[in-house]
Amino acid sequence: MKILVLGSGAREHAIILALRAEEADHEIFAAPGNAGIAQDAQLVAVDADDPAAVTNFANENHIDLVVIGPEAPLVAGVADAVREQGVPVFGPGKAAAQLEGSKAFAKRIMGAAGVPTGRAVRAASRPEVEAAFDQLGAPYVVKADGLAAGKGVIVTSDRDAALAHADAYLLSGPVLVEEFLDGPEVSLFFLSDGDHVVALSPAQDFKRLLDGDEGPNTGGMGAYSPLPWLSERFGGEDEFVDLVTREVAEPVIRRLDAEGTPFIGLLYAGLILTDAGVKVIEFNARFGDPETQVVLPRLVDPLSELLLAAASGNLEDRPKPAFADAVAVTVVLASEGYPAAPVTGRPLSGLQAAEAVEGVHLAHAATAESDGGLVATGGRVLNVVGLGTTFTEARDRVYRAVAQIGLEGGQHRTDIAARVVED
Ligand code: AMP
Ligand code: GLY
Repeated sequence: MKILVLGSGAREHAIILALRAEEADHEIFAAPGNAGIAQDAQLVAVDADDPAAVTNFANENHIDLVVIGPEAPLVAGVADAVREQGVPVFGPGKAAAQLEGSKAFAKRIMGAAGVPTGRAVRAASRPEVEAAFDQLGAPYVVKADGLAAGKGVIVTSDRDAALAHADAYLLSGPVLVEEFLDGPEVSLFFLSDGDHVVALSPAQDFKRLLDGDEGPNTGGMGAYSPLPWLSERFGGEDEFVDLVTREVAEPVIRRLDAEGTPFIGLLYAGLILTDAGVKVIEFNARFGDPETQVVLPRLVDPLSELLLAAASGNLEDRPKPAFADAVAVTVVLASEGYPAAPVTGRPLSGLQAAEAVEGVHLAHAATAESDGGLVATGGRVLNVVGLGTTFTEARDRVYRAVAQIGLEGGQHRTDIAARVVED
């Protein structure tokens, strides 16, 4: 197949690596990609957020499938434009992508579909925020109502800090004050063809910058899959996945279809397993980053077939995709200053030595070539991914590889998947 992947992060690199791992010899293009992706796909200078540019490229190059990685092209209507041309595209149109782009939209759909989620109050001013705090109590959860790459959220018992966060976002519009949900978090991905869903294997993301879940929220500092502890609570991964499929994914997909905005692409359910049941904290309209980096290496079925089936309305009766028993752990290497003000342009070293560790590969998030070497060009720079038969083995491999990589001021967490090993 000729496949065009939009985006430039480690998630897109992971998607491309999964396509490369298939037996089929795909021709893969990436727009714009990065220096790591360039080793696995042909980079093309197409503006991924420009519907006309993407459509022209797809038509001129007889692309069989467009895969949209990040949210920005979805919100810009790229999927609508490509689909209109009759080219299969994995990614929802602008209207359905509001499930991620507008938290208020997501809450409305969940309400209409009867999907369990925390109570939330929309607040447009300081007094409204204070009233919502009084109503919902501490800890306080405040969210910006738009795309903020996971950074628009604060969860804190410090009322002044919560108010200061709200003040900052109120300048650009209303915020959402939400009931605090307590419990472990799970990310579960569903492929949707607009009508039917197929679940992938669950993963857990580490959103805070520092060990022990301290520090600010980030786009994600690491992840692992599968989640062995789900079995204690639900009897097994399949039981959990079936429950979320029935109670969350199918009702949402049906509701969006009924509203005339079918969701074709990846429905990312961000869940909290509370004592009162599984609740949705957020939806995303695209693969999670960095969860994709640990889910896709375990996928046995050919990814291209699944994505094309979703893009073409053919997921019905498709058996659940198979996943390897191998476990996967990824650790994100971030630049100094991330997430507030990442320092970029610094050289990277030791990548070959890192990849030489058994069971380890790299997914590049923000790298570019410079003077014959590689430099970091963004906040999250590299994902070191380790596979193993146990979490102890996968973690050992990942952290040995991380130790090989040089980046001045680089930051990473040392406790990714540590709890699974202890349990
Ligand atoms: P979001 O951007 O909505 O995914 O929020 C980012 C992170 O903030 C989540 O992954 C949670 O760790 C945390 N969070 C968001 N909403 C809540 C909530 N209602 N209760 C507890 N934690 C939350
Ligand atoms: N890992 C969180 C996200 O992709 O939004």
